[in-house]
Amino acid sequence: MKVLVVGSGGREHSIVWKLSQSPLVEKIYTASGNGGTRIHGENIPIDSDDIDSLVDFAKKNEIDLTVVGPELPLVKGIVDRFSESGLKIFGPTQKAAMLEGSKVFAKIFMKKYDIPTSDFVIVKNKEEALEIIKNKKYPYVIKVDGLAAGKGAFIIFSDEDCNNAISQIWDQKVFDEAANKVIIEEYLDGEEVSVFAVCDGERYVLLPSAQDHKRVYDNDKGPNTGGMGAYSPSPLATENILKKVEEKIIKPLLKGMIKEGIPYKGVLYCGLMVLDDEPFVLEFNCRFGDPEAQVILPLIESDFAELISKAVDGRFEDLTFNLSDKYAVCVVLASQGYPGSYRKGFKIYGLKELANIKDGYIFHAATRYENGEYLTNGGRVLGVTALDVTLKDAIEKAYKLVEKIHFEGMHYRKDIGVKGLKRLGVI
Ligand code: AMP
Ligand code: GLY
Repeated sequence: MKVLVVGSGGREHSIVWKLSQSPLVEKIYTASGNGGTRIHGENIPIDSDDIDSLVDFAKKNEIDLTVVGPELPLVKGIVDRFSESGLKIFGPTQKAAMLEGSKVFAKIFMKKYDIPTSDFVIVKNKEEALEIIKNKKYPYVIKVDGLAAGKGAFIIFSDEDCNNAISQIWDQKVFDEAANKVIIEEYLDGEEVSVFAVCDGERYVLLPSAQDHKRVYDNDKGPNTGGMGAYSPSPLATENILKKVEEKIIKPLLKGMIKEGIPYKGVLYCGLMVLDDEPFVLEFNCRFGDPEAQVILPLIESDFAELISKAVDGRFEDLTFNLSDKYAVCVVLASQGYPGSYRKGFKIYGLKELANIKDGYIFHAATRYENGEYLTNGGRVLGVTALDVTLKDAIEKAYKLVEKIHFEGMHYRKDIGVKGLKRLGVI
């Protein structure tokens, strides 16, 4: 089949790479792709949220299956638009993607279907917020309702934090319409883990868990980023925790979505806080994580195109699905200055030598290919992934690969996976 992948980051390169291994896939287009996706197919210059042009392209080129990487096109209704045109596409409908697109929708849904999450109130303006806050003890959390590129959650430990959140949300109106509603919720003091499932509307397959590293510097210091690295599976997601996630979160969610008339198809990304051996939902996302996809997809042994295709068709009843029992680690190599401003266009050295290594994959995030060279083209440039039997060996292998790559100003965290090693008692 001919496949179109929508997006241009490291997540999309890993999706394209995984699809390229399937005997079912003849040709892959990526919109708009990067220097890595072009290795496995053809990049087309259409933005990931230009839904009209994507529909036109898919019709003209008789695309058999479209896979969407980022949340924005999903929340804007790309799945509905493709389906109306008779095109097969993987992901939730616009209404179902509200689980990510509206935190208020997600919270009310969780309350209705008894899915564990922190207690909350919804406010519509600054006055209502101040009324709630004046009686609240620190810490607590303020979150804007809509998509905010990972910047819409404020953990409030002090008056200063509170004033900053209020100022950004209501005085400077940084979040615009995304902050028409705001949630004030209880702080959960635990450890975070993400659990992923691919859903066919009724059934699901569980993918390996993962832990992201959101802060830019080692030991979770510095500002938030899109994610500086990940490892999978996370020892925090024990069998016991995963069973609770399935019974208390995923199964009631799928049943609830059917009851609401919006069955959930696509990737369900459960962002969880584990506390006293119980999982609580921080947020749902309706897509793979980035860089979590770069560690999860290499652990899938089954045919990924078949998995995605059967999810769209609602046909998991006859799916065979196998996972590797190795660990995967991904270290993100970023441009100098990221997550603040940075320059791009620097030559990347070392990639050609690493093109065909065993259990190691260099996923391109922001690169472009020009005159036979790869150049940096954004903040998160590459995701260096390695697999091994133990987490410790996978970490060492990933950092050995990192040493072979260089570009001007390259920086990365040196402690990806260390939390996992501590939990396993290895260090
Ligand atoms: P969210 O966008 O809801 O995932 O929030 C972003 C980040 O804020 C999460 O990854 C957590 O680190 C933190 N966070 C969100 N909600 C809470 C909460 N209720 N308690 C503690 N930390 C939270
Ligand atoms: N790495 C976090 C996310 O994809 O949302």
